[in-house]
Amino acid sequence: MTGARTIGWGTALPENIMTNADLEKIVDTSDEWIVERTGIRQRHIGGTTAGLATEAGRKALEKAGVDPSGIDLLILATTSPDRDIPATASTVQKNLGLECGAFDLNAACSGFVYAMVAGHGFIRSGLERILVIGAETLHQYIDWEDRNTCILFADGAGAAVIERTEGEGELLGWSLSSDGDYEEALYVDRGDKVKMAGREVFRQAVLVMERAGRAAMKQAGLEPSDISVVIPHQANIRIIEASCRRLGIPMEKAIVVLDRTGNTSAASVPLALAEALDTGRISEGDNVLLVGFGAGMSSAAAVLRWGAR
Ligand code: UT7
Repeated sequence: MTGARTIGWGTALPENIMTNADLEKIVDTSDEWIVERTGIRQRHIGGTTAGLATEAGRKALEKAGVDPSGIDLLILATTSPDRDIPATASTVQKNLGLECGAFDLNAACSGFVYAMVAGHGFIRSGLERILVIGAETLHQYIDWEDRNTCILFADGAGAAVIERTEGEGELLGWSLSSDGDYEEALYVDRGDKVKMAGREVFRQAVLVMERAGRAAMKQAGLEPSDISVVIPHQANIRIIEASCRRLGIPMEKAIVVLDRTGNTSAASVPLALAEALDTGRISEGDNVLLVGFGAGMSSAAAVLRWGAR
């Protein structure tokens, strides 16, 4: 049996921090409203998607102790590429000196979980090591006059190196889904800014997070009580709380970084995963549930047994 396990991780955030107080000067809002309704206190804005992805990817390679020549594939989950053509993964490949295939994957905020599941599949098909990155510069899409959205979205990147292992590996169960009927709830037309029906996205998000999480746990043969840590998409603290409640997993098991990062779409799950690892919240043998949702409407979940060979 051939599986894969995560052997390195890294993150990147632009230097420039934008606080809720900064937003108060731009739109009719307040720190109190933003914190109460979203949980966000500040976010990082700036940079390019390739630049942030490169920094996070480099740190993940260093942590894994892997030379760029040891990577067989780069999967870059992003919904905010630097150019329409080519894929931003090409720039990142060049920056990091990788000698391998590279492609972008767009599943909106579910992108990193999609990419992790895809990466594990590629390893089952024969590859040795894969660099998986989620990176975004959502500032490209922000309408700074729309208080419904400009308070939410931000920039950042997170990366993971996964490596082949002889054994089942860490991925115990997963679920990917998409429901195009909700395409109009959250979209960006080419050259335009983000349009969102916030309440509708909220309602659906809670439903699909539960559905995806339960499907992945079922495939893993696990109950909610078996989950040690939840790494949810960082969109809104109330969505995380409601999803945990519906999943039957105590909120104390959820990792939250959105107070400092805002919603960084495909970067949000790897940013939270890295925080959990760097702060010792995940130990060998823990069952970790990654779960996200996003435009599309996409959703994805994966159960990883940390450190499994
Ligand atoms: O990765 C996926 C990305 N998208 C999401 O996750 C979005 C999911 N949705 C949400 O997170 C929430 O729906 C929002 C944070 C976008 C909005 O929160 P809400 O509690 O659903 O507020 P609401 O849209 O129901 O609006 C309530 C009130 C409205 O005023 P009235 O009509 O009651 O007078 C809004 O105009 O709050 C007002 N409002 C604001 N007030 C101050 C909306 N945005 C703001 C704001 N500051 N920034």
